Amino acid sequence: METVVSGIRSTGNLHLGNYYGALQNFIKMQSEYNCFFFIADLHSLTTHPTPADLHTNVKQVLVEYLAAGIDPDKATIYVQSDVPEISELYLYLNMNAYLGELERATSFKDKVRANPDNVNAGLLTYPVLMAADIIIHKATKVPVGKDQEQHLEMARTFGNRFNRLYNHDYFPEPYAFSYSDNLVKIPGLDGKGKMGKSEGEGNAIFLGDTPEAIRKKVMRAVTDGGPTLENQTKPQEIQNLFDLMKVVSSADTVAHFDNLYNTCSIRYGDLKKQLAEDMIIATAPIRDRINAIAGDAAYLSKVAQHGADKARESAAKTIREVREIIGFRKF
Ligand code: TRP
Repeated sequence: METVVSGIRSTGNLHLGNYYGALQNFIKMQSEYNCFFFIADLHSLTTHPTPADLHTNVKQVLVEYLAAGIDPDKATIYVQSDVPEISELYLYLNMNAYLGELERATSFKDKVRANPDNVNAGLLTYPVLMAADIIIHKATKVPVGKDQEQHLEMARTFGNRFNRLYNHDYFPEPYAFSYSDNLVKIPGLDGKGKMGKSEGEGNAIFLGDTPEAIRKKVMRAVTDGGPTLENQTKPQEIQNLFDLMKVVSSADTVAHFDNLYNTCSIRYGDLKKQLAEDMIIATAPIRDRINAIAGDAAYLSKVAQHGADKARESAAKTIREVREIIGFRKF
């Protein structure tokens, strides 16, 4: 059975973009592959969370993984920092990762531009840690969004370089995986690009948002003055609302509002009300489970411990073999 690895950074609550973009794939894959899904808390250190925030954020992602439907009896769910073998492999891979290639990574350049005062080495070597996350379990499939393609290419480069350097056909090549060719697009509510938590308050709908919070955010979503020509192309902010509707509403509902738009008789208030209600319905089961699981400390601790044990078993085997290949031998 092929091995799958994916993770989400613990930097806050999960939103609809995480759910439809990543978690739904995870849930489908867990019954078909040997899956490892982790909470990337080491990755979150690049933005220096306080100890209290770090723990709260990890717990939140763990709760939301489970509430979304990841089953600890099918997939291995673990916290990245519970598996020190990942950090060890990261160190080895760093020895053969070059400054030039790391500096050329798009995500690094974006982060430097966004936060010129926090260009730490962890940010530079983020793709090395991500490669370690994946190849520690010798995974071949990685369910991630398009924005992670370059990181996966780097993971293949680092794994192949190790293989070549030590003349061992050891690490297999990991590739991005999605069930459909066209990845679902989950835009935010600010009229611009994708849904994300760093794009400002109100742009993202979180899985744990209350119905009132969802209504409030959707009603404030950016719109324009309305169509003036029949069948005119929708501007991005309106297209975004329709794209969201396609994900949470029925095809009839989408067609209904599409028709109103095309005949210039649409009222955005009605569209937003419908969108908010359908989002509330779509997320209700997850919200209920979040509330049920979040208070169950014994269950969370059991899941995290069981996941850490399984992940460490797999990671320790790789590290043992890697140490042998590198030439660390016992006297
Ligand atoms: N870089 C990924 C993101 O920002 C998160 C991540 C870290 C990841 N390590 C990973 C995803 C390993 C898949 C596999 O979304």
